[in-house]
Amino acid sequence: MHQRDRVEAATFAAKANINREQYEQLCAQAVQDPDGFWAGLAQRLHWYRFPTRIRDVSYDLRDFRIRWYEDGVLNASVNCLDRHLDSNGDKVALIFEPDDPDAPVQKLTYRELHARVCRLANALRNLGVGKGDRVTIYLPMIPEAVVAMLACARIGAVHSVVFGGFAPQSVADRIADCGSKLVITADEGLRGGRRIPLKANVDAALKLPGTHSVETVLVVRHTGAAVPMQMPRDRWFDAVVDGQPDSCEPAQMNAEDPLFILYTSGSTGKPKGVLHTTGGYLVWASYTHALVFDLKPEDVFWCTADIGWITGHSYVVYGPLANGCTQVIFEGVPNHPDVSRFWQVVDRHQVSIFYTAPTAIRALMREGDAPVRATSRTSLRLLGSVGEPINPEAWRWYFEVVGEGRCPIVDTWWQTETGGILISPIPGATDLKPGSATRPLPGIRPALVDATGTLLEGEAEGNLVLLDSWPGQMRTVYGDHQRFIDTYFKTYPGMYFTGDGCRRDADGDYWITGRVDDVINVSGHRIGTAEVESALVAHPAVAEAAVVGVPHPVKGQGIYAYVTLVAGEQETEELRQALVAQVRQMIGPIATPDVIQWAPALPKTRSGKIMRRILRKIAEDAPEQLGDTSTLADPSVVDALLRGRPR
Ligand code: PRX
Repeated sequence: MHQRDRVEAATFAAKANINREQYEQLCAQAVQDPDGFWAGLAQRLHWYRFPTRIRDVSYDLRDFRIRWYEDGVLNASVNCLDRHLDSNGDKVALIFEPDDPDAPVQKLTYRELHARVCRLANALRNLGVGKGDRVTIYLPMIPEAVVAMLACARIGAVHSVVFGGFAPQSVADRIADCGSKLVITADEGLRGGRRIPLKANVDAALKLPGTHSVETVLVVRHTGAAVPMQMPRDRWFDAVVDGQPDSCEPAQMNAEDPLFILYTSGSTGKPKGVLHTTGGYLVWASYTHALVFDLKPEDVFWCTADIGWITGHSYVVYGPLANGCTQVIFEGVPNHPDVSRFWQVVDRHQVSIFYTAPTAIRALMREGDAPVRATSRTSLRLLGSVGEPINPEAWRWYFEVVGEGRCPIVDTWWQTETGGILISPIPGATDLKPGSATRPLPGIRPALVDATGTLLEGEAEGNLVLLDSWPGQMRTVYGDHQRFIDTYFKTYPGMYFTGDGCRRDADGDYWITGRVDDVINVSGHRIGTAEVESALVAHPAVAEAAVVGVPHPVKGQGIYAYVTLVAGEQETEELRQALVAQVRQMIGPIATPDVIQWAPALPKTRSGKIMRRILRKIAEDAPEQLGDTSTLADPSVVDALLRGRPR
């Protein structure tokens, strides 16, 4: 990276909350006095009992434990709501921008949000939901989604939010895995004018095996569509909430009590229930939100992520609300009714900090500068990126066209598992480099290892690991602690393995290169190749399927599936469409394969292992990079697949 490609921190620094020197002091303090540093972060929150035991971590498999602030007692909803009431009760917490720009905007103050959360929390208690019970939330991006999460937190119930784009089978799997007692959904969702049949999907999910734990379904009336209600299971949200008192005694939670479960894809077929606990997670969400976004009391923050993903948990709900910030929540999509929508919303609500995914930037970049220039955007002062690597070209467009060269971009690297941002520039303190997430936050210890686990020094490329814990780290895979240990701590003993490849340049800045496991990152959404494969082989015509990621100009990665049919089945266009439909129906539209290639056979080693490296190169149409194919049981398979690429 040449000097001229750097964007100096200096111009923003004068107004920034911390400067380079202070950032370096924080990093030094985290090393010299870790307990003092981490205890200091905990002071951001309101505790019924402030922790005295700050950190108890061992990645040693014989004595494995991760505990933060373990004797602390707090309540997450109190931190996000009650704490702000005296000084900021009338400050707007949520600005709800509906899918339809002509529908009314809703603004909720902290006081109003508090009352709504308390009413639902009381209703949930009356329905028999208590501490430790699981509640599945399957809602669109509407205020009730935030209310539902915080109401669970208030009574100590563990929420599991399922993204509204998932199909009934995926909803059912996630309900069954954690044994939810109650589901909160809506009649329908709206996205870009299209209706999403949420209640119908829940009905279908609850007919599937393993979902008998659900006693109650609360249904938010959102579009007003007529949906069948099955009594006594189904209850209208309004009806149970109306008349409830607008205060509710919060449950006193231990710092290590679970706050939520969020399912994410891994390299096996079954999504993992990533479990986060109350104290450490909230400290980290709150601290990183304030630090990375240089948060000031007058900011209007807008993170475009859906609450169905970790970004929506940490930077729509817990971080911003713990910090008493005003924020926009948006139900719609960037191109409805037109491709200026994001910037119209920025102007309408005078957004000062805007946080989105590279896929959205790339999609909008294709539409040219005019739809952006048609808006003012003078309120913006800081931009953020998350979810996948941002290519330097998209970075520059975001910086120069959207931010008009005025707004630093924080390229934030993190994962569902990490709870919050771990590697990112700090505006005003870090020089920016287009395409690089730059430096670890204070207290975070990333490192690169080679395939054998040897630590790489200086300028290097390898697999990204973390040498030590941080408060926001996930604590377990729900119901399968061994899987947690096997997935993250066995590959490189004594280290947390991220699953990402990464390069560190001569300045010590980190460049994430993407997943090195069998996970595809489609538009910033993690999809396990094994999940798509099992949806494909569930079709009676399919004998075998292998799925790989392939570079995609807008989505980052697309889904490329090789399908071998059972003998006698015909490779028809109709069947291809049926298979696409099958995946959409079993997982959801986010997993739609971009390409299905018929594969008379798959490249396998003599021991029968599919060689995905070869399939990836064929998908990329890069036969010159195939490498050694001599270990294949039948090397001629490769030529057949190269010839059979769909045009
Ligand atoms: O591969 C990395 C990529 O997204 C993965 C985590 O996905 P998920 O758990 O769904 O969380 C997404 C939101 C935090 C990572 O393993 N990723 C995330 N942020 C970046 C990124 N890759 C490059 N640059 C980023 N800023």
